[in-house]
Amino acid sequence: MNIGILGGTGPAGRGLAVRLASIGHTVVLGSRDAQRAEAVAAEVRTGAKGKAETVSGSSNEQAALADLVILATPWESALATVSALKSELADKVVISMVNALVKNGREMLPMYPPRGSVAEMIQAALPRSSVAASFHHLPAGMMEDLDSGLEADVLVCSDHKEATETVLAILEGIGGLRALNAGSLAQASAIEAFTAVAITLNIRYKTHSTLKMAGL
Ligand SMILES: NC(=O)c1ccc[n+]([C@@H]2O[C@H](COP(=O)([O-])OP(=O)(O)OC[C@H]3O[C@@H](n4cnc5c(N)ncnc54)[C@H](OP(=O)(O)O)[C@@H]3O)[C@@H](O)[C@H]2O)c1
Repeated sequence: MNIGILGGTGPAGRGLAVRLASIGHTVVLGSRDAQRAEAVAAEVRTGAKGKAETVSGSSNEQAALADLVILATPWESALATVSALKSELADKVVISMVNALVKNGREMLPMYPPRGSVAEMIQAALPRSSVAASFHHLPAGMMEDLDSGLEADVLVCSDHKEATETVLAILEGIGGLRALNAGSLAQASAIEAFTAVAITLNIRYKTHSTLKMAGL
């Protein structure tokens, strides 16, 4: 699959790009600055030692032309980024991995955007797209390092069956990750907010925790 990542030059986009490319997808890292994206893509390819050769860099506009698009910008710029690309994103699955968080001392706190979650805001802004929320709790550094031994459950939610099925299928191809269907997009509020707990644990215990659900 040809996958575009908006805001793909940050740690989250880079990590996802390496994992997706390592299982055969073609990935375009999108940026406000295409040259910057090309440089980051070259760095990512070098770091992956030949296992992510299908990662390239370009503008967010080019990345939005891919078959499937992932939103990986900070939460403050998520809405403006997708709103400018409404027609490019129409009739596609768009995955939001965005968490709305604010740092408060040694804790992260969740922000609750209008409609409850960033993903629901994005769906409202993109009525012709099928928005899914996923990848929120995956540690970027471990994603980019194919030898990190990353093991995690990954929650997926959407109001569109085809979007859920597409994301579940992509995740199932990535070794170490177990994809779980967490229901409708209304669940994105709790999923995004829980990231604040996960990062607070990481700060306290000086680690990179991952999500694992017992009993499933
Ligand atoms: N880091 C993680 O471990 C992780 C894990 C799961 C989910 N997430 C979520 O994924 C998202 C990205 O995380 P990140 O750590 O990669 O964030 P980041 O480095 O702060 O931002 C990602 C990219 O977004 C673009 N960007 C920054 N400000 C922007 C603006 N005002 N308008 C448009 N684009 C802008 C930048 O790309 P250009 O300058 O090249 O345009 C930047 O490289 C966040 O919402 C985060 O909560 C992160």
